[in-house]
Amino acid sequence: MANNETLLKKIIAHSKEYGYIFPSSEIYDSLAAVYDYGQYGVELKNNIRNYWWESMVHYHENIVGIDSAIFMHPTVWKASGHTDAFNDIFIDNKDSKKRYRVDLLIEEHIAKIEDKILKEISKVSQKYGDTFDEKMFRTTNKRIIEYQNTINEINKKFNEALDKKDFAEIKKIIEYLGIVCPVSGSKNWTEPRQFNLMFSTQIGSTSNEDNGLIYLRPETAQGIFVNFLNVQKSGRMKIPFGIAQTGKAFRNEIVARQFIFRMREFEQMEMQFFVKPGTELEWFSYWKEQRLKWHLSLGIPSNMFRYHDHERLAHYANAACDIEFNFPMGFKELEGIHSRTDFDLKSHEEYSGKKLRYFDNELNESYIPYVIETSIGLDRMFLAILSYSYKEEKLDDGSERVVLNIPSLLAPIKVAILPLVKKDGMPEKAKNIFNSIKTDFLCQYDEKDAIGRRYRRQDAIGTPYCITIDTQTLEDDTVTIRERDSMKQDRITINEISNTVNKRIKESYKLAC
Ligand code: GAP
Repeated sequence: MANNETLLKKIIAHSKEYGYIFPSSEIYDSLAAVYDYGQYGVELKNNIRNYWWESMVHYHENIVGIDSAIFMHPTVWKASGHTDAFNDIFIDNKDSKKRYRVDLLIEEHIAKIEDKILKEISKVSQKYGDTFDEKMFRTTNKRIIEYQNTINEINKKFNEALDKKDFAEIKKIIEYLGIVCPVSGSKNWTEPRQFNLMFSTQIGSTSNEDNGLIYLRPETAQGIFVNFLNVQKSGRMKIPFGIAQTGKAFRNEIVARQFIFRMREFEQMEMQFFVKPGTELEWFSYWKEQRLKWHLSLGIPSNMFRYHDHERLAHYANAACDIEFNFPMGFKELEGIHSRTDFDLKSHEEYSGKKLRYFDNELNESYIPYVIETSIGLDRMFLAILSYSYKEEKLDDGSERVVLNIPSLLAPIKVAILPLVKKDGMPEKAKNIFNSIKTDFLCQYDEKDAIGRRYRRQDAIGTPYCITIDTQTLEDDTVTIRERDSMKQDRITINEISNTVNKRIKESYKLAC
């Protein structure tokens, strides 16, 4: 198994070679942290988005979707707090000239201590097997308690310094922890500074007082908040109800490394669920559980996910949790679930002077609803799927293959149609089959190269089923169906292809709704 850094490099190379992801403007030496999705990438991305949309919007009678504009009135971002507070603190290493986000440097330092804890746990659990009680071990083992205290102390000091915007103290913490630049290995740091992450541009003629300054939205959520009453009234929605949307968001990330994990232009899939004040923490737990179920429904093992409850809450939140995924770089945030109180609607009420309230017929009173948000990055979900799926396998005959075990529901091409040879009427028969099922699934016809090479190519793309047309097909209208993961083949009739593929795809996931 490749080590984690090598694995990420392999995934990047594979994505490019097989038409999943290309660096943006590559012929001009690319644009940092911006990527283009290729012919298979766009299909996988659409399939992930559709799966999210269907399970959130179509399968919940009290959730509807919208598609709001990327450009919004600039006061939206004043009200949401982004103009004044959507900042990251960064620090430069004077020797390597590399820039780092301070919170990420601290997070990585803490992750190293957490790794030590996990190593201790794994060592002892192997020794005691089923009788091992991890909770008890964590609370009684001296060394683990020390590690945990160190983590708590770092978090406490760092959060206090952040709250006070005390940059000198932040630098002291970095120095005290002995954090070195991963490139130069030196501790020669500049003073920390802060930076607003929103991209700005100008709209129309620039004669008004702010010169037409507007922002590219840094999250899709605000488009939902400003449309709350439009949707509630036009859809006659009753609380509790949700509004969902997917779309591009833009952030001028200071440090944009790690492929599509942190991009400057990315896509979000967000849902704001409006509830009666006082019930928000129950709904928070509900969505936390539902969202993890959604991830698990795709058949990815549960040990690839974990919850990370936030200790430090944003000023508008009264609970927050991340669903983390075990990416090649370790466990990192994939999705956030936040209990945002009434902060956003209340603030938009104040700034716009328009009432954003819900009239509750049962209580005979109106109130500003509280909000639970679920927010997942589509590109991050794409990376999670890709990094889970990428496998290098040694086969029984000594050969090797690279296969993408993408959950078949999400796979870009569902069925490859392959004539065994390019003669004897097989291509014609294969094309007829292609035409008869192309409206059921995205199929690919391929007659080039030996059959073994074509199977390898479909494995590398992640195609779950290959249909092969051979001499017997010409005699009795049967074909072989080969499964990507097991490589097993069986014979079915041409008429059974669509039903068989459909049935097998349906069996491969548990619908989450
Ligand atoms: N409306 C809440 C919100 O935007 P967030 O935690 O800043 O919360 C939500 O972002 C999700 O968007 C993250 O969990 C992550 O999956 C994705 N995301 C955030 N910044 C990203 C970036 N620079 N590149 C790719 N995905 C990103």
